[in-house]
Amino acid sequence: MAWTTEQRYRRYEDWTAEEVQHIKENIAKSPWRASYHVEPQTGLLNDPNGFSYFDGKWVLFYQNFPFGAAHGLKCWVQLESDDLVHFTETGLRVLPDTALDRHGAYSGSAMQFDDQLFLFYTGNVRDENWVRHPYQIGALLDKAGNLEKIDRILIEQPEEATDHFRDPQIFNYKGQFYAIVGSQNLDRQGYIKLYKAVDNDYTNWEAVGNLDFANDKTAYMMECPNLVFIHDQPVLLYCPQGLSKEVLDYDNIYPNMYKIGQSFDINQAKIVDPSPLQNLDYGFECYATQAFNAPDGRALAVSWLGLPDVAYPSDRFDHQGVFSLVKELTLQEGRLYQYPVAAMQDLRGPAQVLTNQTHTENSYELELDLAADTQSEIVLFADADGKGLRIRFDTQAGQVTVDRKEAGEPFALDFGSSRSCSIDRKAAKANIFIDKSVFEIFINKGEKVFSGRVFPQEDQKGIFIAQGSPTGTYYELDYGRKAH
Ligand code: FRU
Repeated sequence: MAWTTEQRYRRYEDWTAEEVQHIKENIAKSPWRASYHVEPQTGLLNDPNGFSYFDGKWVLFYQNFPFGAAHGLKCWVQLESDDLVHFTETGLRVLPDTALDRHGAYSGSAMQFDDQLFLFYTGNVRDENWVRHPYQIGALLDKAGNLEKIDRILIEQPEEATDHFRDPQIFNYKGQFYAIVGSQNLDRQGYIKLYKAVDNDYTNWEAVGNLDFANDKTAYMMECPNLVFIHDQPVLLYCPQGLSKEVLDYDNIYPNMYKIGQSFDINQAKIVDPSPLQNLDYGFECYATQAFNAPDGRALAVSWLGLPDVAYPSDRFDHQGVFSLVKELTLQEGRLYQYPVAAMQDLRGPAQVLTNQTHTENSYELELDLAADTQSEIVLFADADGKGLRIRFDTQAGQVTVDRKEAGEPFALDFGSSRSCSIDRKAAKANIFIDKSVFEIFINKGEKVFSGRVFPQEDQKGIFIAQGSPTGTYYELDYGRKAH
């Protein structure tokens, strides 16, 4: 069905209990619900928000339109976890219910101050002429789970920015709090604006300047900027919409990219000696990644495995979007690595030697060893004819290719059905996480990553080695299984 603006922005209270029940029944029929990835209870999930540590627990929210697979009136939905693997919805929502966020509680971040968690987000407001007014606003969550919105604008839209001004990320740099906000200037170029909390008061922000990260200025908007520090080195992750493919090639409708700096010069608002721009993920779906430095110093990240302006086969079951696993970001020899947190191993069943299989539950991890100078191909979500998600490793030419053409229902075909990236020409390892309609492939423990969705047919449950002789281990993954 095509959603009208009116349907997308219908007030939450106007949806009847029968309509909500109908949506839930439809979702229950979906063959593609994930078993160990975060998904929306109903409707559409997009960006991760407010990823933080508060009151002895990990807190994470997802952007949600609860009434179907559409980008409509958004809220935040809270999840909690004690291991970064098992997430439970608490029922708490940041609703679009005030004059400052009436048309959507858009993306943002969180940070603990005293006994409260400060949520810093964008209130999306449309006036009577449907002109957008983006307000950077806040709310406070206490330990009992009560949410109180701060009823004034914390950062106004700057004069030099259009109405594309959103997604504040708060961060702590050497004891001082700052925030960066995704912006577009009047020449329709994307940039990132840096603010400082005056006297470390999170309700009082002053502009420092535009973040200098050697912006190539080809993108028209920088969505969801995040700055994290790994052993003092800044890593800037962001989504440069409309980025020229001459700057860096990418296949997805919108890219999620990063740069690594040598150091951060706060006085000049500058990321010193930034690396060239890099693709964060070589797969089909990865966007709006949110990263933060945990109190223990680790840089943790979660991505939306979905993209704006793309229709998914699951839409007809009234759900869209999943989160990636929580990934720890590290720097090794100057390169960014992304790898699921160690607690993911708690889901593993007994180790089994990799062989062809016809009937998995499509809920497993494969650890593959690819010898140097070899070519091999493995098909996952394979049917009896060996059709499925085709992954090809060529350690001779130094390339990995993932092709989803024959993996279930086609979608997003305008952007091609295969993806590849180069790897070093030597033996490689691959850890592949499969979950019903989700795949995450980590090459060499996170040196390169391919993430994406497939919507397999009912008989696509196999593993089929189509070429070469990759060896490896197969682990069933069970969300109910937890180490003691
Ligand atoms: C990115 C994004 C953000 C915005 C949010 C709205 O996917 O467009 O820029 O805050 O989604 O849901």
